[in-house]
Amino acid sequence: AATRYEAESAPATCDGLIESNHAGFSGSGFCNGTNAAGAAAQFTVTAAAAGAATIAIRYANGATAGRPADVLVNGAVAHAASAFDPTGAWTSWGTKTLAVSLNAGDNIIRLSPTTADGLANIDYLETDQGGPDPNPTG
Ligand code: GCU
Ligand code: CA
Repeated sequence: AATRYEAESAPATCDGLIESNHAGFSGSGFCNGTNAAGAAAQFTVTAAAAGAATIAIRYANGATAGRPADVLVNGAVAHAASAFDPTGAWTSWGTKTLAVSLNAGDNIIRLSPTTADGLANIDYLETDQGGPDPNPTG
């Protein structure tokens, strides 16, 4: 089962502005990072157990060039200059999934852009460690 962490909800941080002017986001807004290398969005995620997890990052990139970002887990680069390719419009949201390894308890996941264009707009990050849904609704 996946757990969603909205970019606009503490303890997440955004080196830029939380905005809501491009429709289609989840929650109450998204992180529009400052257009600069290193202007990051950061999430604190909780894992039930140490081990492999999939993260899904929902983003929009209405520019014509990619917005690559290092994905750091607890301060170490897990994926260097990971691509956040154009989605066609700032209102067109895509999802990028990556494999990571998490510690039990809290983990810091930081998206740190590697070019002067900064990040794509970031809506949320989800984590999933697999296994049965602990709270099925069906
Ligand atoms: C536009 C857009 C922003 C986006 C920015 C960018 O200003 O409205 O949402 O973050 O471009 O290029 O990063
Ligand atoms: Ca921006």
